[in-house]
This record gives sequence, structure tokens and C-alpha cells, in this order.
Amino acid sequence: PTNVGILAMDIYFPPSCVTQEALEGHDGVSKGKYTIGLGQDCMAFCSEVEDVISMSLTVVASLLEKFNVDPKQIGRLEVGSETVIDKSKSIKTFLMQVFEASGNTDIEGVDSTNACYGGTAALFNCVNWVESSSWDGRYGLVVCTDSAVYAEGPARPTGGAAAIAMLVGPDAPIAFESKLRGSHMSHAYDFYKPNLASEYPVVDGKLSQTCYLMALDSCYRIFCEKFEKLEGRPFSISDSDYFVFHSPYNKLVQKSFGRLYFNDFMRNLSFVDEAARETLAPYASLSSDESYQSRDLEKANQQAAKHVYDAKVQPSTLIPKQVGNMYTASLYAAFASLLHNKNTSLVGKRVVMFSYGSGLTATMFSVHLQEGQHPFNLSNIVTVMNVSDKLKQRLEIPPEKFVETLKIMEHRYGGKDFVTSKDCSYLPPGTFYLTNVDSMYRRYYAKK
Ligand code: ACO
Repeated sequence: PTNVGILAMDIYFPPSCVTQEALEGHDGVSKGKYTIGLGQDCMAFCSEVEDVISMSLTVVASLLEKFNVDPKQIGRLEVGSETVIDKSKSIKTFLMQVFEASGNTDIEGVDSTNACYGGTAALFNCVNWVESSSWDGRYGLVVCTDSAVYAEGPARPTGGAAAIAMLVGPDAPIAFESKLRGSHMSHAYDFYKPNLASEYPVVDGKLSQTCYLMALDSCYRIFCEKFEKLEGRPFSISDSDYFVFHSPYNKLVQKSFGRLYFNDFMRNLSFVDEAARETLAPYASLSSDESYQSRDLEKANQQAAKHVYDAKVQPSTLIPKQVGNMYTASLYAAFASLLHNKNTSLVGKRVVMFSYGSGLTATMFSVHLQEGQHPFNLSNIVTVMNVSDKLKQRLEIPPEKFVETLKIMEHRYGGKDFVTSKDCSYLPPGTFYLTNVDSMYRRYYAKK
């Protein structure tokens, strides 16, 4: 098979959200800290009737229906998530309900977990499967689903929630350039979830930023080496039309692109213009450790890269800014934003993607876009995802109610024997929701 990649996509995020501006007021932090400081506009969250299973049921059912894919045509189903509801039973097995109804139980794959990276692991598994000798000609389906919630404190505004489904197969409009992958994996305690009784992570915010940027540098270096081996010339930012990043919050994406730009400057590539060279020259002699600690360098990078950021990165920032960190789904929601904003103008373009999961695992990889064939073409994917309407039809919840909801969820986490609120009026038709958890911890869902 050739041009293996993403044939179709759909995204779901909870309609309930809180604005970052209202949250700033509620938390008593200085005005602009979340909106400008973190660069975030709004944050989606699961109310008590939604969780990672309901969201993934919703998005899988929606993708199959809207792209007219027979459930029998799925031969592999992989889920990426870091939101643990059960330590043994995979989310994938919950999703089998959608396929069993059609008589299809011959579906490989389970869940992949490592912080925000699980979705990328799942996607690579599917792409590799289609490219392998065990491929049986059917589609792979990848689901990234997470509810990102933090304890009260500075990390709380960097939450979010969403599920994304991606259909994988040959002759895809979003084709992987599988030879171009650079990974960096190492042991770190930057963000982890050792307390199995809580949904909240333990997080060292500053360390997680540094780990992210170090992993980015390392992946970029390897990615560039592989490119040079293949193409016989150095890779620079000018070789890709767009760059899409895992997006915990927008400020980190701005810093990341600045960092790539600094890499190109240090590699002395002609693409870096004279003005940028002047801005960055004072930092050329910093040691690598110093360079991660220097706020002045960070600001200089962002300033030097600003005009390129606006063209090559900004179009992918819409959903992450509006929905927040969606963990495994964040990178793909950023990519969905790019599709939404640029649509068929992406034909013939290359997009470099950077996936990061704390702990830590990271990969930089690239895709090449084609028009595709209906229903698996760029403009149809954009129509089906219907991002504008989904964003418009949301319900703004006051911060007090948001905090109250998280309290209920803390109490419910790992619990049994409860029935959820009957008020699902705010959920769009077709949305799955949690109805009850019985005395054996078995979870039941219904479709609106
Ligand atoms: N107006 C404008 N900007 C402001 C204001 C204001 N009123 N107040 C603060 N800022 C700026 C700061 O200068 C800073 O900007 P800078 O980074 O460009 O210097 C930014 O807002 C953040 O302020 P800090 O004081 O550094 O933020 P704090 O330490 O309170 O928390 C953090 C930020 C660490 C990101 C926290 O939200 C967190 O721990 N989040 C979770 C971890 C995370 O997402 N890590 C990313 C990789 S791992 C992953 O994906 C989970």
C-alpha cells in the first residue's frame, strides 16, 4: 500500500466550558495571566455525565456514520489515553459495543498509555499495521480521548477535554512520510499520576516545560539528520509549510516554535534572516543548559520567529486555545484546526508534527497532504468536523459551577453505585453519556 495515513477524522469536545477570563477573576490571579500569560481563551470540561469512554463512543459512532464506513470494515482499533478508568479493562473494549452490533469482533489493538503520547503510539501502530504483511486490507481506527483535570492551583487553567477519531488506510489525503521520524525517550518525573485514587497528576510545571523543550530539540536534530540523509541537503523550517505541536497551552507552542527557529539559527542556515540573526547573536554562546533557563533567550526566540509563527503555526492553534489541553488529543486537535483554517489550500503541503508525553516520550514526524477522494478528502473532513458550529454551540459555565463539578468528579472517581444527573439537555443529539455505575463498578452509557 502507498500513501498510508489518515483518511478521515472527527472531533468531539464537551459543550460545557469555562472562559479563562472568568477563571482569572475567580482565582484572583492578575488579569491576563491565563489569557495572555498562558495564551488560552477557554477550557472544556466533562460534567458528571461525560467521561473518556462516552466521548470516544460519541466520536467513533459519528465518524463511522458521517463517512459512511461499515463497522465490519475496521480491522484494527487503537486507543490512546492517559485517563485511567480501569486498570485492566481497556477503553478499546468499551468501544467494541459499536462493532459487536454489526457482528465484527475480529479487531486487533488495545490501549496505549504514556501521558499525552498514547495517541501518537496508537496512530503509529495503525500506520505500521497497514504497511505490514499482517494487514488484511481493512481500515485502522485510532481514538485519542482524555479529560485533563488538575488540582486547584497554577496548573488548573491548563486542563481540557476531547476525543478524536482518525481512520487509517492507504491512498490517504494525509499521508505519512514514514522515513521522517525522530524520537526522544527518557526517564523523567515531570508529570505523572502515581496516586491511583486521584484523577489529578503530580506535576512539576517548570520541569515539564524544560523536558518538553529538550525533547523538542532532540527530536528536531534527529528529524533533520534523517531528512539530510534522504534528501542530501539540510532541513530548515522553510522545508515545511506548517508546524503543529502538542499544545498544553498556547504560550508553550510559541516558545517551542521559537526554539526550532533558534536551532536553525545555531545551525547557521541561510533561511534565518539578518534581523533575526542580530536578535539571536547575543545568545549563541550559551551552553545548552543555560539556554533552557534563559527567559531573555525565550523572548528573543519568540520575537525573531514571530512572523514565521504567524504563517506556519498560528493556523493550528484555534481548538487548543478554545478547548485547552486535551492530552492525547491535543496534537491532533491542533492539526484539525489547521485543516479547518486552511482546507484544500493544504494540497501538496508538508506538515511537521511534534508529539510529547511527559515521563517522557516524544516524536517529531511529518505528513504530506493530498486532495483525496470523496468521502476521504480534505474538504469533506473539514465539513464533517464542523469545528465552527461545535465551538459556537457551547455552553459557558460560571467558574463556581466548574469548581463544583470538579468536586463532584473527585468524589465519583473510582466510585460505584451511583446514578448520574438526568439533565443532559445541553448535549448535542448523538452524544453518548454515562447513566449509572452499578455496585460491581460496571458503567452504563446511553445515546442522546
Ligand atoms: N499578564 C500577562 N502575562 C502574565 C501575567 C499577566 N497578568 N501573569 C503572568 N504572566 C505570564 C508569565 O510571565 C509567564 O510567561 P512566560 O512563561 O512567557 O514567562 C506565564 O504567564 C505563566 O506564568 P507563571 O508564573 O510562569 O505560571 P505558573 O508557574 O503559575 O504556571 C504552568 C504555569 C507551570 C504552565 C502551570 O500551569 C502548569 O504546571 N501546567 C501543567 C503542566 C504543563 O502543562 N506542562 C507542559 C508540558 S507537559 C503536559 O503536556 C501536561
